Amino acid sequence: MVKPFFLPILLSAGAAAASQTSHCRCRPDEPCWPSQEEWLSLNKTIQGNLVAVRPVASVCHGDEYNPQACKAVIGLWSNSAWRSAQPGAVQWENWEAWPENHQTCYIDSPRGTKCGQGRVSLYSAKVQTVFQVQQAVKFANTHKLRLAIKNTGHDFLGRSTAPESLQILTRGMTDIQIVDDFVPRGAPKGKSEGHAMTIAAGVQLPELYTAAAKQNRTVVGGSSHTVGAAGGYIQGGGHSPFGAWGGLGSDNALEFEVVTADGTLVYANAYQNSDLFWALRGGGGGTFGVVTSVTVRTFPEVPVLVYNLNITAVQGTPQFWEAWSEFHAALPSLNDAGGSGYYFTVPNFPLNTNTSVSVFISLLMFPGKTDPAEIDKLYQPLKLKLQQLQGIQVQNISFPFPTMNSTIFTLLLSGENADSTGSILMLGSRLFSKDLLSSKDGADRLTDAWKSIKMDPYDQILGHVVAGGAVAANGEKIDSAVNPAWRKTVTHMVYSRNWEANATLAQQSAIIKNMTEIEIPILRSVEGEDRMGAYLNEANAYEDGFQQSFWGEHYPRLYSIKQKWDPAGLFISRKGVGSEDWDDAGLCMTTGGRSKALGH
Ligand SMILES: Cc1cc2nc3c(=O)[nH]c(=O)nc-3n(C[C@H](O)[C@H](O)[C@H](O)COP(=O)(O)OP(=O)(O)OC[C@H]3O[C@@H](n4cnc5c(N)ncnc54)[C@H](O)[C@@H]3O)c2cc1C
Ligand SMILES: *[C@@H]1O[C@H](CO)[C@@H](O)[C@H](O)[C@H]1NC(C)=O
Ligand SMILES: *[C@@H]1O[C@H](CO)[C@@H](O)[C@H](O)[C@H]1NC(C)=O
Ligand SMILES: *[C@@H]1O[C@H](CO)[C@@H](O)[C@H](O)[C@H]1NC(C)=O
Ligand SMILES: *[C@@H]1O[C@H](CO)[C@@H](O)[C@H](O)[C@H]1NC(C)=O
Ligand SMILES: *[C@@H]1O[C@H](CO)[C@@H](O)[C@H](O)[C@H]1NC(C)=O
Ligand SMILES: *[C@@H]1O[C@H](CO)[C@@H](O)[C@H](O)[C@H]1NC(C)=O
Ligand SMILES: *[C@@H]1O[C@H](CO)[C@@H](O)[C@H](O)[C@H]1NC(C)=O
Ligand SMILES: *[C@@H]1O[C@H](CO)[C@@H](O)[C@H](O)[C@H]1NC(C)=O
Repeated sequence: MVKPFFLPILLSAGAAAASQTSHCRCRPDEPCWPSQEEWLSLNKTIQGNLVAVRPVASVCHGDEYNPQACKAVIGLWSNSAWRSAQPGAVQWENWEAWPENHQTCYIDSPRGTKCGQGRVSLYSAKVQTVFQVQQAVKFANTHKLRLAIKNTGHDFLGRSTAPESLQILTRGMTDIQIVDDFVPRGAPKGKSEGHAMTIAAGVQLPELYTAAAKQNRTVVGGSSHTVGAAGGYIQGGGHSPFGAWGGLGSDNALEFEVVTADGTLVYANAYQNSDLFWALRGGGGGTFGVVTSVTVRTFPEVPVLVYNLNITAVQGTPQFWEAWSEFHAALPSLNDAGGSGYYFTVPNFPLNTNTSVSVFISLLMFPGKTDPAEIDKLYQPLKLKLQQLQGIQVQNISFPFPTMNSTIFTLLLSGENADSTGSILMLGSRLFSKDLLSSKDGADRLTDAWKSIKMDPYDQILGHVVAGGAVAANGEKIDSAVNPAWRKTVTHMVYSRNWEANATLAQQSAIIKNMTEIEIPILRSVEGEDRMGAYLNEANAYEDGFQQSFWGEHYPRLYSIKQKWDPAGLFISRKGVGSEDWDDAGLCMTTGGRSKALGH
């Protein structure tokens, strides 16, 4: 009889043997890890743009403590533009840490705490050219390294970083080309897509808007100071406050320039590599290759009328939630009339020590509209319903803007010049359908679900009216990987959770577990299990059945395109296509993945 204590030894010997086969990425303590000379030669081939990386907060801790550098880092801590340029940072502190492996480097930890590398990459190729991207990809391929692509690091699911990895940092690629008459490569002569812009991988949304506005044109993009225009945003689908007017960001992508897993440069559009083109429009970032540039359609400028409706009540007033339900019941018709934008709900907003209020603020934009009376008429049925509810205050105002550019810069991006960042954050979200909110008790069921999600003081529910209109219509015209649920969506709703840097792993796990196993299922159940889904870029990082939630019926096709273009899994991103074949860190294939790789 084998004594039980031999068992772990046998198992760990087995694990070591497995890691010597091709089922794991090469790790720093293994003989396969590149030598100093090899790193040096990579550095030479990429013109000296390789850097060894430590987490940005390391200068505030242990032996690395440096008072001046630390002071500077503290000052820049919540500056999203700075974070996007740092190899040793992403935007959300929790994705810099690897608490499961006892490696953290929180800025708030005591000075004496030694900093662990966490999920921060070990080396970064701060690429400036396509050639440098190719060299970094080939190097990672040759040495079987874990590769991470970081653009701005905004990803909420931890996709832009990976433990023990080589990072490709794209922020240095900022070229923007105006194309008056874009003809995709390989298209028949005369097949012009009209005015377009070709933007390099590191261009951020406001840079794209500014360049378009200089041409008296506009583009469909998101609402952020520092989110990338060509990276995770557009590859994940990309929603816009003008979605009902212009579609999803990815609906307007005309061509991608991509470095694939073997280091070759290919173009993907409707005429060549069309399977890759299909996958890159909604299949998710970091999965099919490194996109070095993307060409996007532009639109002529139009004026915008913005309509702001607020509802407030003393916290605990039941009519507040009735009003909330009425707003949701009215959403399909407001959206059908061209309205899109955002709404914010803070169920418990403390005004002072004695009073809290419930606050609802909506900002819907109507592109091409200039007459406030026309919009008032649209809101009239909702306003009549709200007038019948006691105990709530309803206010409205409208703002005309001459252009989308002015709407974006003076309204959506006004105030600060960076995004809020540098903290610990987890999201939970769901897409809800027009069918649901048009049905008899749909809005009430949605309201009941949200009422049962615990909302502490200042906690917020964010609604995105970024679909309908052109997004829905494009479902008939455009065949792309985007979650088919987007075409039926009327609102994308998000809430968040966080914890203190000193929270134990058990405390963190409890929050994640409650979101994943209690709260999200409450939101899911409103539409019936898996009838809609969630937006992959703004979702629970531990989403159960992510393949179905993020891509619905498109998943099998995405999985096979992934196997074709990246059979060895060089590009693995958390909760991305094919990631189920790997462990959470993307370092080793799991048993299921191994048997698939071996053709079992
Ligand atoms: C303040 C804020 C506002 C937002 N607003 C919107 C919005 O209006 N609409 C919307 O749809 N989303 C919005 N988002 C979500 C946003 O789309 C995601 O955070 C997205 O992941 C950001 O992409 P990125 O390239 O900037 O970031 P990163 O975190 O650097 O990258 C995200 C993913 O894309 C991959 N990737 C990046 N660049 C490339 C590349 N060149 N080639 C291949 N893979 C690449 C990364 O590996 C990673 O997997 C917002 C997020 C924030 C924080
Ligand atoms: C790469 O080369 C540059 C320029 O010579 C140097 O500054 C940098 O430290 C090198 N990177 C590494 C990782 O050695
Ligand atoms: C944009 O419009 C302005 C005002 O009509 C005009 O002066 C300018 O030349 C236009 N710019 C371009 C690039 O068309
Ligand atoms: C809150 O209530 C207490 C006790 O009634 C009162 O003394 C105090 O002035 C109130 N504070 C405010 C800000 O209203
Ligand atoms: C709605 O609330 C916001 C935030 O408090 C405020 O800035 C805005 O003026 C309000 N709108 C109306 C119409 O009162
Ligand atoms: C908003 O509400 C006020 C007061 O009820 C009304 O007079 C006004 O016309 C409304 N509409 C707009 C577009 O501001
Ligand atoms: C875009 O709008 C902003 C804010 O109104 C303005 O400052 C900027 O000049 C505009 N850009 C162009 C190119 O029109
Ligand atoms: C789990 O979530 C529900 C709904 O938000 C909440 O009421 C409950 O308190 C949470 N439980 C824990 C342990 O956090
Ligand atoms: C964590 O830090 C906060 C202050 O930021 C403190 O209130 C709390 O007690 C600490 N918790 C633990 C578990 O140490």
